[in-house]
Amino acid sequence: MFDPRDLDVPVVAAPMAGGPTTPALVSAASGAGGLGQLAAGYLTPEKLASDIAAVRAAGTELFGVNIFVPETDPVDRAAVARYRERLLGYAAALDVDLPAVDELGDDDDHFDAKIALMCDERIPVVSFAFGCPPAPAVAELHRHGCSVGVTVTGVDDAVLAAEAGADWLCVQGPDAGGHRSVFDRRAIPPSQPLDDLLRAVRGRLDLPLVAAGGISTRDRADHVRASGATAVQVGTVLLRTHEAGTKPAHADALADPARTETVVTLAFSGRPARALRNRFTDEFGEAAVAEYPAVNKLTGGLRRATADDPDGINLWAGTGYRDAVAEPAADTIGRLG
Ligand SMILES: Cc1cc2nc3c(=O)[nH]c(=O)nc-3n(C[C@H](O)[C@H](O)[C@H](O)COP(=O)(O)O)c2cc1C
Repeated sequence: MFDPRDLDVPVVAAPMAGGPTTPALVSAASGAGGLGQLAAGYLTPEKLASDIAAVRAAGTELFGVNIFVPETDPVDRAAVARYRERLLGYAAALDVDLPAVDELGDDDDHFDAKIALMCDERIPVVSFAFGCPPAPAVAELHRHGCSVGVTVTGVDDAVLAAEAGADWLCVQGPDAGGHRSVFDRRAIPPSQPLDDLLRAVRGRLDLPLVAAGGISTRDRADHVRASGATAVQVGTVLLRTHEAGTKPAHADALADPARTETVVTLAFSGRPARALRNRFTDEFGEAAVAEYPAVNKLTGGLRRATADDPDGINLWAGTGYRDAVAEPAADTIGRLG
């Protein structure tokens, strides 16, 4: 079974849901000796199956699939209604009809069907974000030969993941781009620096640790690996690579000298996520509520209507975004490994 300590190149390509991760990016990362991971989040099981087939058709045997763990806490409809109200004027100006609050109920992102697909396809590596996978699901994956990783942002969550049967952990620090993988979406994401968090998790658990968050240079990757991580996981630094499916407005914004700041915001999805600061985060960051996935669905039409406008979309970015280069992903992976 996969163990991150066995990677030829100790670099894991972050799964990046919403478009940036493509089968080509996964194959490029694994082909470079690292580990590529498909991002199953938001996909139907059918689309995920076709992405898996594309990765395998490219001859890639070792790769991962990342799955979102569904929320267990029910949506707070009143909070969603308040945020919806706040977005109405902006939506009207874009000629977008916001969905009604009743249409924004809880949604498990096809969790059971995706676990069944992992088992049927005997996917070598299955990683989880946004929560702790239930122990029976982990056991079922183990029975099918899948190595199970869980993303954690704090020691308590790390212990829960180990108890559920995780084989390795992705330890995500506060500089990470995209969503913070806090198990409780309403918790303030821990601000403990990655190096301290790694030490704290290492002090409690003996599992292999993959470190993530703001890692964009060889020096930083070496430092993190010397501090107890087996490998690094990088997302932002791959967003401008040739194989990534990042929206052009997002890829360009990462290189725009006028974009000088990242912020952690609930505004787009209702889960804390680090993004380049833009007009949407400025206008709605304070009013937003921690109601994922309802808020994600609420803002979906707005983001589609502004797909070419860097001030309307979620420009997920970790603090190392300046080091994201337009080049083959294998070159990026090689530089960090
Ligand atoms: C655009 C984008 C999308 C992401 N989507 C996912 C995802 O679907 N699943 C996941 O576990 N992590 C996701 N992440 C977080 C990464 O796994 C990782 O923690 C993060 O990229 C590390 O920080 P860095 O971006 O500074 O390298 C995403 C990150 C970015 C930048």
